Amino acid sequence: MIKSNGFKKVNTAIFISGKGSNLKNLIKFSFSNKSPIKINFIISNKKNAKGLNYSKKFNIYSKVYNFLDKSKTEDKILKDLRKRKIKLICLAGFMKILSKNFIKKFRYKIINIHPSLLPKYKGLNTHKRVIENKEKFSGCTVHIVNSKLDSGKIILQKKIRVKKEDNYKTLERKILKQEHILYPRAIRKIFNL
Ligand code: GRF
Repeated sequence: MIKSNGFKKVNTAIFISGKGSNLKNLIKFSFSNKSPIKINFIISNKKNAKGLNYSKKFNIYSKVYNFLDKSKTEDKILKDLRKRKIKLICLAGFMKILSKNFIKKFRYKIINIHPSLLPKYKGLNTHKRVIENKEKFSGCTVHIVNSKLDSGKIILQKKIRVKKEDNYKTLERKILKQEHILYPRAIRKIFNL
């Protein structure tokens, strides 16, 4: 659990690589008085990530890091996080795996959203695999990030039924909608709200 210091919202960084629908959703959430977080840093490993447009739109500082030398890059990121007094990291479609060292050195929480019912379907192409395996249920999970991929302690999970007529595109759409409800709830939960 993270303690929010009185009424002051906790400085939060969102890490993205793609379209950033979760980022947009978290920014909107952060404006509400139900939110314990303030988003003041957006980090991307891709300079053309569509989600970066929300940096301009909502006037939130963003920075792109190339991960050619992962350990150097992570050191830079840690320095920048410290400078901005970031106390929570939310991964939202961030496609790089953070090192053990980074996770250890960032003394606060790192959380992630994953589009499956973890521990099932860790990794990529979850919806495709769910459809191929004719699963009856799928969903999404918000969890604490540890050094193993998609394996940290689960904060919250939402289960949905996979219908016969679903394909991986319709499933992705349905689950993304649920992600946008689940992520803010999970954040409130880690602040004990
Ligand atoms: C989401 O499905 C998230 O669960 C996964 O990557 C996708 C990111 O979507 N980790 P977006 O960029 O937030 O729209």
